[in-house]
Amino acid sequence: MIKIGLLGLGTVGSGVYEIINNPKNNLKRLLNKNVEISKILVRDKNKKRNISVPENILTENPDDLLNDPDIDIIVEVMGGIDTAYKYISTAFKNNKHVVTANKAVVSKYLNDFLSLANRHHKGFLFEASVAGGIPIIKPLKQNIRINQISEIKGILNGTTNFILTKMAEENLSFNEALALATELGYAEADPTDDIEGYDVQRKLAILSSIAFHNQVAVDSIQCRGIRTLSTKDIEIFERLHLTVKLAGKAIACDDEISASVEPILIDKNSTMATVKDAFNIVSITGDTIGNLQFYGQGAGKNPTANAVVCDIYDIISGQFKSDHFIQNDEIKCAGIDLFKGKYYIRINTENKQKVLHLLDKNHIHYDIISIHQELILITDLITAKSIDHLINQLQIFENNYFYARIEVNDFNVSNYIAI
Ligand code: NAP
Ligand code: HSE
Repeated sequence: MIKIGLLGLGTVGSGVYEIINNPKNNLKRLLNKNVEISKILVRDKNKKRNISVPENILTENPDDLLNDPDIDIIVEVMGGIDTAYKYISTAFKNNKHVVTANKAVVSKYLNDFLSLANRHHKGFLFEASVAGGIPIIKPLKQNIRINQISEIKGILNGTTNFILTKMAEENLSFNEALALATELGYAEADPTDDIEGYDVQRKLAILSSIAFHNQVAVDSIQCRGIRTLSTKDIEIFERLHLTVKLAGKAIACDDEISASVEPILIDKNSTMATVKDAFNIVSITGDTIGNLQFYGQGAGKNPTANAVVCDIYDIISGQFKSDHFIQNDEIKCAGIDLFKGKYYIRINTENKQKVLHLLDKNHIHYDIISIHQELILITDLITAKSIDHLINQLQIFENNYFYARIEVNDFNVSNYIAI
C-alpha cells in the first residue's frame, strides 16, 4: 500500500483526489500496488466544499501528515511560499517523496529541494508547476542531456491568455474576463500574480534553471503584465493584423541569458496566435533537436491534477532519480539586453508634444496611428532598453500607458493603416 498525504484540497487538490479515487483509472492494476490518499491538510475543515471526502481524513494539523511514518508521498497543492517551503523540507527530512504544483515555492527553492531530495534518496517532481497539464519538465530534463538550449519561449499563463481571448473575441471587459477565469479555477489565489506576469516569471525561472543548468533567480527576469491593456488597444491590434499575448522568453548567449515576461504582438495567423483560452504553448530550441513545441491546457482542475498524478505514478514506479541538472552558482541574467523590435505604444497624456519631443531627442523614429484622445504610435526598430528608458523619462502613472514589442518580421504599419 502506498499512502499519500495531500496538502490542499482546492482546485488542484480535489482534482488529484478524484483521479486517484476514480475506479476507472485503476492505479492498482497499473502500479501493482494499492494507492490511497490517507490524510488531507486544509485550512478550514468545516468549509463547504464541492467534493465529498471522508471526514476523518481531513485535518488542520500538518504534523498529522508530515510526521506520519506510514505516509510515503507528500503532494503539496496549497500554494504560497514560506509555509510550503517548511512543509516540503520537513517531508524530505522525514523520508518522504514530494510532488508539487506550486511554482512560487519551486522557483525560489529548486536547488534546495533537489539537494534535500538527493540527500534523502527521495523523489522531487513538479511537472504541474509549469504550463498546467502540458508535460514540459520531464521532456526538458531529457533533452538537456544532449542539447545546448538556446531559447525558451511561450505562453505560460492560462488566466491571462483566457482574458486576452475573451477581450478580443467576445468583447468582454478585462474585469469580466478575469472574473470568469477565477470562477473556472484558472487564476491564482491572488490574481495579481497572473495579471502582472509574476506567475510567468516564476515558470520561466523554473524552465530556465533546468535548461541552462543553473538556478535563475526569479527577480532577475524583467516582468511586465497586461493590467493596463485596454479595449481600444485590442481594436487597433485587430486593424494591424496583430494578436497580443503575454509571453515569457529566455535567450542564452555565451555565459549569459536575457529573459523577460511582457506582452508581445504577433501575426494574427501565427501558431502562437492560435493558442486561445487557458491553453499554453512552450517552445524550446536546442542545438541538436532544433525547435520543439508543446501545447495543451495550461491551467484548471483536471489538466493540472493529471500532471500531478503522472508525477505520483513516476515516484511509485521508481522513475524519479533526481538528476543534478542544477549546479550551485546562479547564472547571470543580463536583463533584456538581447531583445529588440518595433514597439506599439499608447499613452494617455495631456502633453502629447512632450512625448513626441522625447522620442525625437532619443532618436526614435515612429509612425503615429492616433493623436486625438490618446497618443498611439509604432516605433522603428529599437532595443527593449531604449523603450524602457523612454517610458521612465516620461514619468507618467502606469495606468496611463501600454506598450508591447511587435514580434513580426518586416512589420510595416502603413500596410494596414493609412497614416
Ligand atoms: P486553491 O484552490 O486556493 O486551494 C488551496 C488549498 O490549500 C485549499 O484547500 C486550502 O485550504 C489549502 N491551504 C492553503 N494554504 C494552507 C495552509 N497554510 N494550511 C493548510 N491548508 C492550506 O489553490 P489551487 O488553485 O488548487 O492551487 C494550488 C497550487 O497549485 C498553487 O500553488 C497553484 O499555483 C498551483 N497550480 C494551480 C493551477 C490551477 O489551474 N488552479 C494550475 C497549476 C498549478 P481550504 O480549502 O481550507 O481553504
Ligand atoms: N494561474 C495559473 C495560470 C495556473 O493561469 O496559468 C496554472 O499555473
